[in-house]
Amino acid sequence: MAFWNRIFGWFRGRPSAAEQSRPSRADLLERRRARQAALDATREAEEAPAARSDFPAFRSSAIDRTAARGEASRLTKARMTLRDVFTPAQPVTERSKFAGRLGVLARLIEILEEQRSHVVIYGERGIGKTSLVHILADIARESRYNVVYASCGAFSNFEDIFRAVLRDIPQLYLRDIDPTAVGEHQGTLADRLPDSFDARQLGELLAQVTGTRVIIVLDEYDRAESDQFRQSVAELIKNLSDRAARVQLVLAGVASNLQQLIGYIPSIRRNIIGLPMPRLSSDEVRALIRIGEKTAGVEFDEDAAKAIEQLSNGSPYLVRLVSHHSSMIALDAERLRIELGDVWGALDKVVEEAAGRIDPRLIAAVEPYLDLQHGPMVYAAARAASTPDGWFTPEDAISLCENCPPDRMIKDLNELTLAGVLERAADGEAARYRFREEPLPTYLWMRVARDRLDASPISATSRSVAS
Ligand SMILES: Nc1ncnc2c1ncn2[C@@H]1O[C@H](COP(=O)(O)OP(=O)(O)O)[C@@H](O)[C@H]1O
Ligand SMILES: [Mg+2]
Repeated sequence: MAFWNRIFGWFRGRPSAAEQSRPSRADLLERRRARQAALDATREAEEAPAARSDFPAFRSSAIDRTAARGEASRLTKARMTLRDVFTPAQPVTERSKFAGRLGVLARLIEILEEQRSHVVIYGERGIGKTSLVHILADIARESRYNVVYASCGAFSNFEDIFRAVLRDIPQLYLRDIDPTAVGEHQGTLADRLPDSFDARQLGELLAQVTGTRVIIVLDEYDRAESDQFRQSVAELIKNLSDRAARVQLVLAGVASNLQQLIGYIPSIRRNIIGLPMPRLSSDEVRALIRIGEKTAGVEFDEDAAKAIEQLSNGSPYLVRLVSHHSSMIALDAERLRIELGDVWGALDKVVEEAAGRIDPRLIAAVEPYLDLQHGPMVYAAARAASTPDGWFTPEDAISLCENCPPDRMIKDLNELTLAGVLERAADGEAARYRFREEPLPTYLWMRVARDRLDASPISATSRSVAS
């Protein structure tokens, strides 16, 4: 591109008086060289299929190395790095990429170390539970804890999960093993399990652990569908607590699990501590963005960072998603500075992606409520819904909206319930609401923000984030 500019600039830049006069020999030579170079470039462009601008292509080489130089190389490098720092699909496993959350981590460590309790970490999807437990595992291993991580799935069953977990714990730590006897301590705890076992037998075996402490992390606990699995986990917790075993469970999932877990065996209430994952504070959002800036060598304008902060509502998932799309849009425009307009471009993509994950009937049902009259109410409800379990009260929503009359908010919430968009639970007088599908609140507040933006004057600087 720069080449063509040079060529055309050269032709265009010549004064007309000089054009009329006879060109010098040096001028002619220079023109011939330029003509030849232009011809070569055209031929190259025709021959190289990757240079066809209308044809989709990967932007960087899969070997994570770039052949480009100067500005182009910085752009390519930024593109590769940003994929890693902002990609919203993967949890953070390295401390250098982990933003904020020090308070939650400290509390978690205290629960495990001082209170010797089992923990349930709960919060909405994307709030950072998996990342937190990975970082916790890292820190605990430094203090010689044996940490075993397992992720639950819809069909998880108690025996399979724990047999796999025990394969990661050496027999060396069993009380009846003589650590000086050669060979005897080479197996794992899984070797000690009978073909079939229950929570009581597992508790007995784990109570034999000595000389270390074991933390078993069961992530995505809410995905396990089997009642029996959860009942067994509750029994295991009871067993381990009764025997003062050196094994602690950390479960990560959504809030209702905590109630349910305790529901099975009410007496385990005092053996489990629930740790809600809060939303990111404003400083934590900025820290997350800064990690991306530093790693990739890009910079977010203050306006852009502020918009990301508002749109993401304290969800690290959304901070990363919006930051990712906006920085890619900036890089496509060959800029390393991310501007407010790039964030608006990202908003369109996020709305589109979120819509793809929601039952179209729900989107159709909520559509009539996205007009000017109801929009602010839906927006407030959607923001209020980012609680650890998704439940919110009308008061929560009202407090997030300056001009929403309480009676109209309640009326809209009830209408949305009838339309199947919300579910409603009434404990005595107080009603609570929850969106039927988890991605709905995100879709709605992004959607309302975007619609407001579209309705406002086109000038990027006069656009303000819906608040
Ligand atoms: N403290 C953090 N710093 C940086 N990114 C984070 C942090 N916590 C979460 N994320 C990012 O947010 C997204 C969702 O995090 P994840 O841990 O998978 O949440 P959850 O397990 O609650 O669904 C991931 O892209 C993850 O990398
Ligand atoms: Mg997770």
